[in-house]
Amino acid sequence: MAPTSGLLRDDRHMNAAFDAVDIIRAKRDDHELTDPQIDWMIQAYTDGRLAEEQMAALAMAIVLRGMNRREIARWTHAMIASGERLDFSGLSRPTADKHSTGGVGDKITLPLAPLVAACGVAVPQLSGRGLGHTGGTLDKLESISGWRPELSPEQMLRQLDDVGAVICAAGADLVPADRKLYALRDVTGTVESVALIASSIMSKKIAEGTGALVLDVKVGSGAFMKTVEDARVLARTMVDLGTDAGVHTVALLTNMQTPLGLTVGNALEVRESLEVLAGGGPPDVVELTLALAREMLAAAGRTDIDPADRLRDGGAMDVWRRMIAAQGGDPHAELPRAREKHVLLAPADGVLTQLDAMAVGVAAWRLGAGRARKEDVVQAGAGVEIHAKPGAVVRGGEPLMTLHTDTPERFDRALDVLQGSYFIAAEGSRPDLLPLVVERVAAH
Ligand code: URA
Repeated sequence: MAPTSGLLRDDRHMNAAFDAVDIIRAKRDDHELTDPQIDWMIQAYTDGRLAEEQMAALAMAIVLRGMNRREIARWTHAMIASGERLDFSGLSRPTADKHSTGGVGDKITLPLAPLVAACGVAVPQLSGRGLGHTGGTLDKLESISGWRPELSPEQMLRQLDDVGAVICAAGADLVPADRKLYALRDVTGTVESVALIASSIMSKKIAEGTGALVLDVKVGSGAFMKTVEDARVLARTMVDLGTDAGVHTVALLTNMQTPLGLTVGNALEVRESLEVLAGGGPPDVVELTLALAREMLAAAGRTDIDPADRLRDGGAMDVWRRMIAAQGGDPHAELPRAREKHVLLAPADGVLTQLDAMAVGVAAWRLGAGRARKEDVVQAGAGVEIHAKPGAVVRGGEPLMTLHTDTPERFDRALDVLQGSYFIAAEGSRPDLLPLVVERVAAH
């Protein structure tokens, strides 16, 4: 087992001795942690000098007791200091990035990054893979033949200069503390903490070196934050962290009660994103893409351009093709399709008043679009196609959803979770839904 206490031998706290158990007890008993205590825990954990169970105990104490603004800022700072920082300040154009806290059918990064680049602002997007019911942007892009997620910092910089947009995997040197801690939190019931979520997300975004950041904080059944109040606290915490670190940061709270758009699943979502880039696509995906693009452009100081023009005139599609080709992908290749389909029919006439995001996300996952363990392989064509969204009038016997998979033995478990995921009310009823963009949170 790793030692429980020791001397941190680096420049910052030479000769400072800490005992991990004292620090865990302090947070357990609701005391504030000092800056040197936080630095020591993160550094010792990253270096492998702190036992996994000790970090797990501290994470649980933080879930239960929380951290104040100073502690969260220091925790974030210590996480950033665990690895390298990227620097795009030499680029000729400003940079802006977007981060979503994760939702179902959330393919917005795909049309958004090329759209904002087409408006003259560079987008360095470090993305991840899906785990559980929320999809990952890299899994979606990997359904494009030949596309590669790994780029060195030099390749990233060159692509940002040439094309203006990069979506790639974060290198192992970017916030290594989060890489370890996130995996630990995932298996110890310690994901759901505003302090830990905010510091995890913001350490990566600050280390990535973007000049401006727009956060899409999801709220509803398909999101980490189930209520507007909780989402507001998370958004405020992240906006404050970004602002204090010199990153122009804004957050939008957006609806995740129901899936975004009409597709959930990797290749299905790429296909829908291409429709948006071609000037069409579902209205909610277009509206959110434009709302986030306007925020990113404004945060980067470009209020003179309307991104809707770049969807209309093909400018965004042009950047998309160059962005995919620059990473080895064939933008004209046929996207994979699942071998088997099952159509779920509406049981009655009426108005669809509810379609639960979480249930549809879990169904897509069970069909093979997501993974249960990091090493699982996802099916590119698997997922759910939605034919009616809340507010739509439906007729009994008409298709509500089409389920796609290569492995038809998965249909039953997907159908199980969809039981009770939707509600058809009498004609004339209206769904009680949050608006797509619920609220905006900016720096004080
Ligand atoms: N996404 C992250 O990167 N970290 C979290 O803690 C939660 C979501």
